[in-house]
Amino acid sequence: MADLSTSFVGIKSPNPFWLASAPPTDKAYNVVRAYKAGWGGVVWKTLGEDGPPVVNVNGPRYGAVWGADRRLLGLNNIELITDRPLEVNLREIKQVKRDWKDRALVVSLMVPCTEDAWKAILKRVEETDADGIELNFGCPHGMAERGMGSAVGQVPEYIEMVTRWCKENTRMPVIVKLTPNIADIRKPAEAALRGGADAVSLINTVNSITSVDLDRFAPEPTLDGKGTHGGYCGPAVKPIALNMVAEIARNPATRDLPISGIGGVTTWRDAAEFMALGAGNVQVCTAAMTYGFKVVEEMISGLSQYLDEKAMTLPDLVGRAVPNVTDWQYLNLNYVTKAVINQDDCIKCGRCYAACEDTSHQAIDMSADRVFSVKEEECVACNLCVDVCPVENCITMRELAPGEVDKRTGKPVAPYANWTTHPNNPSVSAAE
Ligand SMILES: Cc1cc2nc3c(=O)[nH]c(=O)nc-3n(C[C@H](O)[C@H](O)[C@H](O)COP(=O)(O)O)c2cc1C
Ligand code: SF4
Ligand code: SF4
Repeated sequence: MADLSTSFVGIKSPNPFWLASAPPTDKAYNVVRAYKAGWGGVVWKTLGEDGPPVVNVNGPRYGAVWGADRRLLGLNNIELITDRPLEVNLREIKQVKRDWKDRALVVSLMVPCTEDAWKAILKRVEETDADGIELNFGCPHGMAERGMGSAVGQVPEYIEMVTRWCKENTRMPVIVKLTPNIADIRKPAEAALRGGADAVSLINTVNSITSVDLDRFAPEPTLDGKGTHGGYCGPAVKPIALNMVAEIARNPATRDLPISGIGGVTTWRDAAEFMALGAGNVQVCTAAMTYGFKVVEEMISGLSQYLDEKAMTLPDLVGRAVPNVTDWQYLNLNYVTKAVINQDDCIKCGRCYAACEDTSHQAIDMSADRVFSVKEEECVACNLCVDVCPVENCITMRELAPGEVDKRTGKPVAPYANWTTHPNNPSVSAAE
């Protein structure tokens, strides 16, 4: 069995699966059960400054998007940071860390934007012997209106300033958690690095309204006739998160900055994808909230089996796909494929035909007895038919070898060439 142990910014854990700061990590009872189930670490639910705890809504706080089989694809929430007293949380953190020395315990923090407020909480967290802190610059609702959370995370100068205060006032590693509600994720990551961050974690939740109640005419979740935007997470946000992780991992300015990948991780495969794009570990929230703590068992066994099959170590996997993430203009425009329909697997539903005929390139033929076949001379290899076909692997894409004639263009497949040298590129013809 592959060794899954990790040291993320010096914080050791038996596996790279941490629970993200959220309800699953809100109290000792949950965290201890999570550790028993096998989680390598947790980021404790965000703590705020001392004083009266925050007040959560007392009506519904979640909205959801489901797939056709009612599987939860996206979860939206309007919950705030912890609403338990600071003292109670700190006492529990200290006890849990004492009892579970081999697991990672990072504490998420969000206090007002003054150095004194950060200094005060850092001192108290240090006394718990927690392994590190995560700065919550991401929460998109409730706290942002009070000048915290994403109100900080959307301004790189604030990120840099608060990160620096933290680095100057604690010996603990500082992980900066980024909001995705920003145009260019590289900017806050660069700011965190300038402030001295040991790592970034991303993504926090995406601003969203998941649905509208068409009887009450209000966004859901609806409280007394009103709704507000919430933070979206779960499988639906994984593509957004993967892209942002990759952007940071391949940005020359931040490529050495450790990343904790978050957003829709539900299976070992999701985790492996984040790690291949540069994440040193992953954090999970929605999958644990949907399926319980035991989902980690599949993540551990799946990742370790995958690594064994590939004869790779975990560090071999981290960042392995980063060199293959490029900009559009460097893609090989002479790479040609064609759709192929496997007649044995086809259930004759006609979805590929409708999609290609109505919205793509009229490259699928439907015979009178509903046999569907690809017209190679029309197929531009867009892949849409593969994506709409309900039978997995029924339609595949065949790669044309160099020299083979592309029936659509009538020309043999040429060697690699990209947009930067293409004759249709105005900047190329201008340079000539
Ligand atoms: C109900 C709920 C509460 C959350 N509370 C916090 C929080 O207090 N601090 C924080 O940094 N992130 C919080 N998050 C965001 C998660 O830590 C995580 O970044 C996000 O859910 C994406 O991961 P996922 O797709 O695995 O859920 C919360 C998420 C949910 C669903
Ligand atoms: S790959 Fe695109 S163009 Fe080719 S058959 Fe499928 S949908 Fe049509
Ligand atoms: S979508 Fe798939 S299953 Fe349906 S007709 Fe096309 S190839 Fe056959």
